[in-house]
Amino acid sequence: MDYRIKANRRNWNERTPVHAASEFYDVEGFRNGRITLSDIERAEVGSVEDKTLLHLQCHFGMDTMSWGRLGAQATGVDISDAAIGLARALNDELQLNTRFICSNLYDLPDVLDEEFDIVYTAIGVLCWLPDLSEWANIIARFLKPNGVFYILDDHPFFHVFESEANQAGTQELRVRYPYFKTAEGEFYEGGHHSYAGSDIIETGCYEWRHSVGEILNAILGAGLRIQFFHEFACSGYKAFSCMEKDKDGWWRLTAHNDSVPQLFSLKATK
Ligand SMILES: C[S@@+](CC[C@H](N)C(=O)[O-])C[C@H]1O[C@@H](n2cnc3c(N)ncnc32)[C@H](O)[C@@H]1O
Repeated sequence: MDYRIKANRRNWNERTPVHAASEFYDVEGFRNGRITLSDIERAEVGSVEDKTLLHLQCHFGMDTMSWGRLGAQATGVDISDAAIGLARALNDELQLNTRFICSNLYDLPDVLDEEFDIVYTAIGVLCWLPDLSEWANIIARFLKPNGVFYILDDHPFFHVFESEANQAGTQELRVRYPYFKTAEGEFYEGGHHSYAGSDIIETGCYEWRHSVGEILNAILGAGLRIQFFHEFACSGYKAFSCMEKDKDGWWRLTAHNDSVPQLFSLKATK
């Protein structure tokens, strides 16, 4: 396995218990029946009743089990053994019937030999993948003919910014990071908070940037037909201190008139 993917597995193993204890993930609410999927995903994926669904990069599985609560026969896949261990424990405790597989996404064709009605992946996923062409081929491999692929993820353009206070003390967005991919990826030192939870994560991790063109061309190159590509001026977490949480639960750049795309979704068929 690539040393960068191994490093990321260590990082996600360390993050898992921190996330599980966080308000952000609200595991107790999930235990009490909460559906963790967002309004956007539920509306855009549509009914999953009696459908088979493969969830790539499922973390500790609350979204996967939520699709199960909505009627899908769901399977979640993640590289982190800590995350998959917790997902299985929650599934058993709550007597749900979701299946979990611990695997590097790129190795999945070696450990799973099935086709699904829906392949789904969401929020914070593409940045962990060095090769989107191979990713898209794997999605196509696991879809039945006429099967549907759906992704909701951070918009690549949103990652070019940093926020800084101007002389009046107002936070402004500045272009700081490259938009286009760097082949090696970027190494981020440990010693920081995760996006959820207050504990410090000691292990570092590697992330890759992918432009909108790269995402679209990977999906088209795998032979899938794109139904839509949507962009949203909201995010699931407070990426910058100038963001405000709206009544609907999404974080927005209200001081910037919602002028920056923060999420995208894409639906495609085989
Ligand atoms: C931010 S989470 C996404 C899940 C979901 N949105 C959530 O917040 O629970 C990213 C997940 O990708 C997984 N991951 C990273 N690289 C992977 C790889 N090469 N193969 C499979 N999973 C991977 C991590 O272990 C982590 O659980």
